[in-house]
Amino acid sequence: MKRTKIKFALADATIGEKILIKGWVRTFRNNQFIAINDGSTINNIQAVVDFESTDENVIKNINTGACLSIEGTLVESQGKGQRVEVVADKVEILGVCDPEVYPLQPKKHSLEFLREKAHIRVRTNTFSAVYRVRHAMTFAVHEFFNKKGFVNVHTPIITGSDAEGAGEMFRVTTLDPTQPPLDAAGSVDYKADFFEKETNLTVSGQLEGETAALALSEIYTFGPTFRAENSNTTRHLAEFWMIEPEMAFYDLQDNMDLAQEFLRYLIQYALDNCQEDLAFLNQRLLDEEKNKPQAERSEMSLLEKLQFVLDNDFERVAYTEAIQILRNSKPNKKKKFKYLIDEWGADLQSEHERFLVEKHFKKPVILYNYPKTIKAFYMRANDDDKTVGAMDVLFPGIGEIIGGSQREERLDVLKEKIAAMGIDEKEVWWYLETRSFGTAPHSGFGLGFERMIQFVTGMGNIRDVIPFPRTPGNAEF
Ligand code: 4AD
Ligand code: MG
Repeated sequence: MKRTKIKFALADATIGEKILIKGWVRTFRNNQFIAINDGSTINNIQAVVDFESTDENVIKNINTGACLSIEGTLVESQGKGQRVEVVADKVEILGVCDPEVYPLQPKKHSLEFLREKAHIRVRTNTFSAVYRVRHAMTFAVHEFFNKKGFVNVHTPIITGSDAEGAGEMFRVTTLDPTQPPLDAAGSVDYKADFFEKETNLTVSGQLEGETAALALSEIYTFGPTFRAENSNTTRHLAEFWMIEPEMAFYDLQDNMDLAQEFLRYLIQYALDNCQEDLAFLNQRLLDEEKNKPQAERSEMSLLEKLQFVLDNDFERVAYTEAIQILRNSKPNKKKKFKYLIDEWGADLQSEHERFLVEKHFKKPVILYNYPKTIKAFYMRANDDDKTVGAMDVLFPGIGEIIGGSQREERLDVLKEKIAAMGIDEKEVWWYLETRSFGTAPHSGFGLGFERMIQFVTGMGNIRDVIPFPRTPGNAEF
């Protein structure tokens, strides 16, 4: 008999039908009722076994976590909350699970505890819901750009360039760290390394993405990126996934329009296609909120927050205006910010971003035209000679979710900028050549995929929206 996925058994299968299901035991009650889940849906199906006629060795092994194959008849459910259940004719144990040592018991576990068990946490309701939403969002990303005629480009993971210029890269080498070959000056001789030069894991596919946009007009990348920044926060990973669209002939306004449309598309997709998982995650958050003091409770539920972003245009605010707002804000005057804002040119910290979004404007904000001194070399210089055509999208509860800009397409200006930032022209020769061979105005941005998944699922810690998080000191699994 062919296996039926539990999702379809629960929704579509006909009463009275013979059925085969396979999955993992969540609970086994009264030697009779098995709740079984195969990950196709957040919901379990109930299988009813006949204690008398079932082999005692089988009964003994129906434990939480064990993997079973069950053949039986689909009947109308006697219990509440489910349409059908399976009356088992035959139960086979595919994989035993010792309840004495299995870490997942039928009770609530803390997210911290589950992080230590990343290889099995996907078997919980919360994590299987997050994995499914993450999948749906991946699909929606490709669907959005495909519908618009963007070309998906695979940019390299091993690279010789530091796109963001922040120097936070993981080195890639085959040299023996205990005995590296040295050059005449006594430095490590990377000519003797695998690629005959220094290479790293990429921090962004943007620079290579730009080369493609200057031929295909509209492209996007969707790949892993790596940053060796030592930030132990709930928003930073050392390995994260980024979506980077890059568009010829777009200016900064077009870029903002696309970013807003894209984010909304993803949210709408989740609301339309992940209803059960979102309902579960919404309830999970409501339960969590109940344990918080009134003042710390969120004003909106997860589902309300998602709808709110769909219903309200993002506020577009120039950096200069944002600095004025922040300088005059209560937390600044009362010295409540960790980093006080007093001068134009200050870099914004996440406390400032969240103040603007959550307290001041109370909706998503796009900040644009940042000081050139705090942004990357590739951003287009504005006529004021002080700011660049940068844009960051800030979301409630998250802070920066997107970073992007119009790009400097003028060769002479770009050369001046990289000289001023101390970048060697030889390092970026191919990038510079795109500015002499048919350059074009163009723009793009990067969406941090995990931050987006955090927003959509309501998970507070970025470590809980990627299967195997990489953070300082953590690369188990
Ligand atoms: O603002 P960032 O550094 O921009 C870039 O990398 C550009 N090259 C993008 C572009 O214009 N094509 O990063 C973009 C986004 C951030 O807004 C944030 O959402 C996410 O990537 N991000 C991180 N997510 C998780 N962990 C980290 N350490 C992250 N650093 C950035
Ligand atoms: Mg940024």
